[in-house]
Amino acid sequence: MDSSDYDFLFKVVLCGDSGVGKTNLHLRFQGKEFKPDFKSTVGVDFATKTLKVDGKTLKTQIWDSSGQERFRSVSHAYYRGAVGALLVYDISKKNSFESLKTWLKDIKNYAEPNITCIIIGNKCDLSDIREVSTEEGKEFAVECGFSFVETSALDNTNVDKAFEQILTQIY
Ligand code: GTP
Repeated sequence: MDSSDYDFLFKVVLCGDSGVGKTNLHLRFQGKEFKPDFKSTVGVDFATKTLKVDGKTLKTQIWDSSGQERFRSVSHAYYRGAVGALLVYDISKKNSFESLKTWLKDIKNYAEPNITCIIIGNKCDLSDIREVSTEEGKEFAVECGFSFVETSALDNTNVDKAFEQILTQIY
C-alpha cells in the first residue's frame, strides 16, 4: 500500500513481559487463529490493518516484539514514531502487572511524549487463577490517565475493542 491509499498512518507498539500474550493479541488483530504453544517472539514483527473512520482511511501498523530482557536493546527503534502503546499484563501473573511500571519508564525514555497508552489485562479467561483483580487494573490505569480493558486472546474477548479504543483515542 503506498501513501496515496490512506489518509493517516499510525504506529502502535505492544509492550509487556514475555508470555503475557502480545503475539496472540497481535494474531487476533490480524484475524488469525490463537496459538496455544508458547514460542517467544524473536526480534520484531509487525502487521497492518486499515479502518475507515468518518470517511477517512486509517492505516495502523501494530508492532510486536519479545518481552524478554535480552531484546530490550531494540527499544529506541521500536518506539520511534509510535503514537500508541498497548501495555499488556497477564491477569494470572502479578509480576507481569508490577512490571508495567518498568515498561512505562521505557515508554517515557524512548517514545514521543504525547503517545497514547492503554492498559490491557490479558488472559481474562483464566479467572480461576487470577492474581490481579479488575479493580486493581482499573485503578492503575486511572492513576496513569490511561484507559483499561481486560481481554482474552484465547477466546477472542474484547480484542477488537482494545484496538478500536486506542485508535479512537489517537485519531
Ligand atoms: P514474548 O514473545 O516472549 O514477549 O511473549 P508474548 O507476550 O508474545 O506471549 P504469547 O502471545 O506468545 O503467549 C504466551 C503464552 O500464553 C502462549 O502459550 C499463549 O498460547 C498463551 N496465551 C496468550 N494469550 C492468552 C489468553 O488470552 N488466555 C490464555 N489462557 N492463554 C493465552
